Amino acid sequence: MTFARIAGTGSFLPEKILTNKDLEKLVDTTDQWIRDRTGIEQRHIAAADQSAVDLAEPAARAAMNAADVVASDIDLIVFATSTPDRIFPSCACLLQARLGIHGCPAFDIQAVCSGFVYALATAEKFVRTGAAANVLVIGAEVFSRIINWNDRGTCILFGDGAGAVVLQASEQAGILSSHIHADGRYADLLQVPCGIGVNYDDFKAGHGYVEMKGNEVFRMAVNTLGQIVDDTLAAAGLSKQDIDWLVPHQANHRIIAATAKKLALPMDQVVVTVNKHGNTSAASIPLALDVAVRDGRIQRGDTLLLEAFGGGFTWGSALIRY
Ligand code: UT7
Repeated sequence: MTFARIAGTGSFLPEKILTNKDLEKLVDTTDQWIRDRTGIEQRHIAAADQSAVDLAEPAARAAMNAADVVASDIDLIVFATSTPDRIFPSCACLLQARLGIHGCPAFDIQAVCSGFVYALATAEKFVRTGAAANVLVIGAEVFSRIINWNDRGTCILFGDGAGAVVLQASEQAGILSSHIHADGRYADLLQVPCGIGVNYDDFKAGHGYVEMKGNEVFRMAVNTLGQIVDDTLAAAGLSKQDIDWLVPHQANHRIIAATAKKLALPMDQVVVTVNKHGNTSAASIPLALDVAVRDGRIQRGDTLLLEAFGGGFTWGSALIRY
């Protein structure tokens, strides 16, 4: 049987760091409140001339180096983002050109914070069916561009960054199972309420900002992630004890801790980057994965559970033999 195996990881963060103390000067908040309620200490913010593709390119090159593949080996690019460079062409096409890859399919996926899990699940299907052998899977965001910097309920949460993996066909186990879901009835709880088709005048006036009913999103995230953890383990015939590492979407330390508790997993088996990166939406999981691979925590043969929840609502998970 052909598996889709993570052959290499990479990530990239913009240079500028925005601390909680910096935010105290922008809105009525405190470093202590942000740490206590979210676990966030700082986040990276893209420079004015940096786009999602600018962040994705070094992340992709690092993943390709780690996987020991070159541009001509890549036969599919799947790019998860909610903050694309342009309305079109897709970020996947723009990145493809930057990397000097020609002819392979390339497309974007829009599932907000679940984007990377959606992209991984999609890429896995191509690999398993033999349609692709080396897939570049990216999550990259410049969420700072869609933040209202006067809204203390959202501006403290988000950051910019990019992460990437090369998913490769292999006889060795890789992704054991992947699960993706959505329920559009909850669209209004976490959204940018204007765009090309809705409230277009607001959009043209530059009011395309994230709005969130934080409390309700929080409750749904904790409950839904608790459920998907059970479903994922059951589908793979594994038990909680089989998980070596939880690599969660990094939205809030309290949501991460609740999921770890559900898995009866001590926090030292959970990869946490939300303190340093904030919520980087589709980039958060591949960023966290790359950090833990490169610092040696995650080793070949380890069993990983990736999970995410985000706008849409969308949610998903992947169980991986690394
Ligand atoms: O990645 C996609 C999914 N997104 C998420 O998962 C985010 C989910 N939501 C959250 O992480 C949390 O709901 C927040 C961190 C956004 C908010 O934490 P909370 O514990 O749910 O706070 P809250 O919204 O219930 O607000 C509690 C109080 C309110 O004041 P009153 O009404 O009790 O007087 C807020 O106005 O905290 C106030 N508040 C703040 N105070 C200081 C809200 N934001 C801030 C702030 N600084 N930045």
